[in-house]
Amino acid sequence: MDESTDDQFYTSPRFVNHIDDYAIAALKNYYEQTLPHRGRILDLCSSWVSHFSPELDEAVSKKELQVTGVGMNKRELEANQSLTDFIVRDLNTVDNPCQGFKPGYDAVTCVVSIDYMTKPLELLRAVHEVTAPGGRIHLAISNRCFPTKAVGRWLKLDEDQRLNMVGDYLWFSGWKDPEIITLKDVGGWTDPLWIVTAVKAKDTGKGEL
Ligand SMILES: C[S@@+](CC[C@H](N)C(=O)[O-])C[C@H]1O[C@@H](n2cnc3c(N)ncnc32)[C@H](O)[C@@H]1O
Repeated sequence: MDESTDDQFYTSPRFVNHIDDYAIAALKNYYEQTLPHRGRILDLCSSWVSHFSPELDEAVSKKELQVTGVGMNKRELEANQSLTDFIVRDLNTVDNPCQGFKPGYDAVTCVVSIDYMTKPLELLRAVHEVTAPGGRIHLAISNRCFPTKAVGRWLKLDEDQRLNMVGDYLWFSGWKDPEIITLKDVGGWTDPLWIVTAVKAKDTGKGEL
């Protein structure tokens, strides 16, 4: 609905949580079990929180884990204790969203934000390029959003259709084995939370099937 560039919408920092405490707890637990505790992680559409577990944050403070955030608001990113560095970039307007990123990320995260990406295939293809073979992407999805900034199709679909659409985003941008994981289902009064995840194929040297 709002066709203006995203920098206007995100000028002022929002030091709020976009999912409730139950969803955050489920996400932290998932991250603790699935994210590498060494190496490099790219947190797309990052803000003042990344919802990493205390163990992951400890790995960051011990410099065993490097976490690069990319987002729109400098003050939010500066406040994010899970990040080791950050880049302020509008991922919707640049020609190559990952230009200048050091390749070899071991994992990629993106929390409740893929719905704001207007060129998801280009973005996810570029992210695939800079991810190490065997690296996994985790797109966390709930059912709240800034409706004026979400892509139009998001608002026309129900939850299942959105998850499948995001799985398609990953598949058609080169990621393998897309999977939808339910961390908290709809129902009750708490926020639902799903992860759409996929992996960058390891180079077997045998060509692609
Ligand atoms: C709903 S918030 C989620 C923030 C954070 N991932 C979290 O879980 O709290 C949406 C985030 O997407 C980022 N974002 C929105 N549009 C963007 C764009 N075009 N390029 C880069 N980041 C964007 C904003 O900076 C904002 O932090």
